[in-house]
Amino acid sequence: SAQLNKLAKAAGKLYFGSATDNGELTDTAYVNILKNTDEFGQITPGNGQKWQYTEPSQGQFSYTSGDQIADLAATNGQLLRCHTLVWYSQLPSWVSSGTWTADTLTSVINTHISNVVGHYKGKCYAWDVVNEGLNDDGTYRANVFYNVLGDSYFALAFKAAAAADPAAKLYYNDYNIEGTGAKQASVVKIIGLVKNAGAKINGIGMQGHLIVGSAPSQSSLQSAMESYVAAGVTEVAYTELDIRFSSLPSTASGLAQQATDYATVTKACLAEKACIGITIWDYTDKYSWIPNTFPGQGDALLYDANLSKKPAWTAVSSVLAAA
Ligand code: G3I
Repeated sequence: SAQLNKLAKAAGKLYFGSATDNGELTDTAYVNILKNTDEFGQITPGNGQKWQYTEPSQGQFSYTSGDQIADLAATNGQLLRCHTLVWYSQLPSWVSSGTWTADTLTSVINTHISNVVGHYKGKCYAWDVVNEGLNDDGTYRANVFYNVLGDSYFALAFKAAAAADPAAKLYYNDYNIEGTGAKQASVVKIIGLVKNAGAKINGIGMQGHLIVGSAPSQSSLQSAMESYVAAGVTEVAYTELDIRFSSLPSTASGLAQQATDYATVTKACLAEKACIGITIWDYTDKYSWIPNTFPGQGDALLYDANLSKKPAWTAVSSVLAAA
């Protein structure tokens, strides 16, 4: 039948994928859908490769959570997007509250990246090397990395990742960069900054945490992707797509709007050769991050909390099938 990854590949894309997380993997009905490669050809660990899990104290590396999901992908024959190396959030306090000089923090970043990327060498289709380095107004986010190293930390991280796994595609990943605007323009600047420093950057990950009825237009989505390619990356991807209701319960007309919004993003990706795939940030409303972060919001995914397909699933499937 018309399943998402199968259709995406037939349409010339590399994958249609989903994030997942360790706590959900005991849910058999959930896993049965997740591991169906006609539906999902790619998975991303939602948490397990983040710094707080992989290097909770300095020099102590732990891969239990990340490996569980990397192994699942390998067993199922799914691509793995690896997520994420340098991010201000889910960063252990020994990093965020440490007293660093430029030299000592450089060494901390290099050690983290060489160990984590080295551990997963050969297993990651792509790495989100730097995540969410920008504020919504396009200025650099004042995290520990920026505060100590300035904008040089971007290239530093990309160089370390390239050295540890030369075959992995290296991405900058952020939200609210799906359409054109100040933040999108700053992503263009970051691509130049990294390349001018002699480092490799292959892709831009557009997270795609959108709101029903407020998604950028298809032309804005396409212009943003084209701007990244023009700045020198060879690929772009929607890496964490979900389109949430800002108030619940959802109505039939709301679900129809959500379907339209998902169709718009899918059409934009299909229209841009550089857009290699779409990853949804888990596939079911049962396991979405949104209600914990935005109480009262949610229902953002393609399957409802009972693992039934929603109108948005049908819309994505139809758009892919028509390509
Ligand atoms: O593992 C602990 C568990 O031991 C504890 O009992 C429980 C109680 O709070 O918390 C568990 O940790 C939670 C973790 O997810 C694993 O479930 C954290 O509290 C919770 O904050 C964390 O949320 C994650 C969030 O990133 C943190 O910023 C979400 O699952 C994850 O989906 C979300 O993903 C991010 C991307 O990495 C980057 N882009 C935005 C996206 C959505 O926020």
